[in-house]
Amino acid sequence: MPSAVPPVDLRSDTVTRPTPAMREAMMRAEVGDDVFGDDPTVQELERRVAALGGKEAALYVPSGTMGNQLAIKCATEPGDEVLVEAESHIFQYEQGGIGANSGCLAHVVASERGALPAGTIEAALREEDDHVARLRLVCLENTHNRHGGAIVPLERLAAVAEAARARGVRVHLDGARLWNASVASGIPIAEWANTADTVMMCFSKGLGAPIGSILAGPSPLVRQARRVRKRWGGGMRQVGILAAACLHALDHHVTRLADDHRRARALAEGCARAPGVSVPAPETNIVLLELEHPALEPRAVLAALEARGVRLVRFGPRRLRAITHLDVDDAGVARAIEAFQAVVAESVGTSAGRRT
Ligand SMILES: Cc1ncc(COP(=O)(O)O)c(C=O)c1O
Repeated sequence: MPSAVPPVDLRSDTVTRPTPAMREAMMRAEVGDDVFGDDPTVQELERRVAALGGKEAALYVPSGTMGNQLAIKCATEPGDEVLVEAESHIFQYEQGGIGANSGCLAHVVASERGALPAGTIEAALREEDDHVARLRLVCLENTHNRHGGAIVPLERLAAVAEAARARGVRVHLDGARLWNASVASGIPIAEWANTADTVMMCFSKGLGAPIGSILAGPSPLVRQARRVRKRWGGGMRQVGILAAACLHALDHHVTRLADDHRRARALAEGCARAPGVSVPAPETNIVLLELEHPALEPRAVLAALEARGVRLVRFGPRRLRAITHLDVDDAGVARAIEAFQAVVAESVGTSAGRRT
C-alpha cells in the first residue's frame, strides 16, 4: 500500500509548491496585457528587482535559461566568443544555446569552485586580427550549482569584472541562486550584481515561486531583450498573476533561505556519518554526496532511497545531489538522514558479507 507520508523531495529547490499565502497573492494580482506594457504587477516586479540589483531596468522571463540566453544574445554578434566556466549551467545544461541562439563560440575555462583564475581574461583576449573571433562576454555563476552551491567570493568576481571592463568585454552573472549567496554572506544583491553588466535571478528555485526569472541590466540591453523575448515566443499576457507570486516571494521567502542553509549543513553532517561516503560541508542549500565505497552503486542507492520515501538526483558518475528548500522541514531532513544511513549501511554491509 502506498505510504500516506509524502516523500522528502530533495531533487531540487524547483520542486516547491506555492504556499496558500502565495496563491492568495496571485489571486489578488492586478493584471493587464504585458505585451502591451499594461501589467502593473509585472512592472512593479521589474522596477523592484532593477532597484535591488542597482541596475537601470529588468525584464521578467519564464525561465532562468531564457534570461541567460537573452543576456548572451543581446551582448554579442554572431561570430563573437563567449567565455564560460566549464561547470556552469550555461555551458552544461542550456543545450549549446550560445551557438544555437546567438551564433557565438564558447571559450570554456576551468575554474576554482566557480572563480576564474587570475589572468583568465587577459589570456583569453587575442590580438585584433581578421582571423580571430572577438571575446565579447564572460559568463559567471553564483551560487554555483555544480560546485555544490559554492559562493564565488565577491573579490574574485570583482577582479574579473575589472579586467573585463578595462578591455571592453561585458560580464553576465547567472544568479539563479544569488539570493542564497546574499543571505549566506550578508552581502546585498546590488553588491554582487555590481560585478556584472547583466544579472539573471530566479524566483522558481529557493524563493518558491511556481515560474519566473528576471534579467536586470542597462536599459538599452533590457529593451533589446524584450524584443528578442517576443521573437522567441516569450511575450506573456496577464502574467502579473505569476509576478505576484514573485513579489510575495521577495517579501516572505528571502531571509528564510538561512533555514535551508542550516538544514543543508545538518543533512551533510548526518549523511557524512555513513560509511564509504564523503560529503563536503555545504555553503548554501546544495549538498553533494560522493559515493566512494565500490558497493554504493548510484542507481541502486537512489532506488533504495526512493523506496524509503526520500528523493535525490544523480549528479555525476558517483555523485548524488540533495537540495534543501521551502517544502523540507527539520523532520524531513531527519528522515532523509535516517534513510541515507540505512541504505548505505545495507549496501556496504551486504557487499562486505559477499566478500567474506
Ligand atoms: C545555476 C542555474 N542557472 C540557470 C538555471 C536555469 O533555470 P530554469 O530551469 O528556470 O531554466 C538553473 C536551473 O536549475 C541553474 O541551476
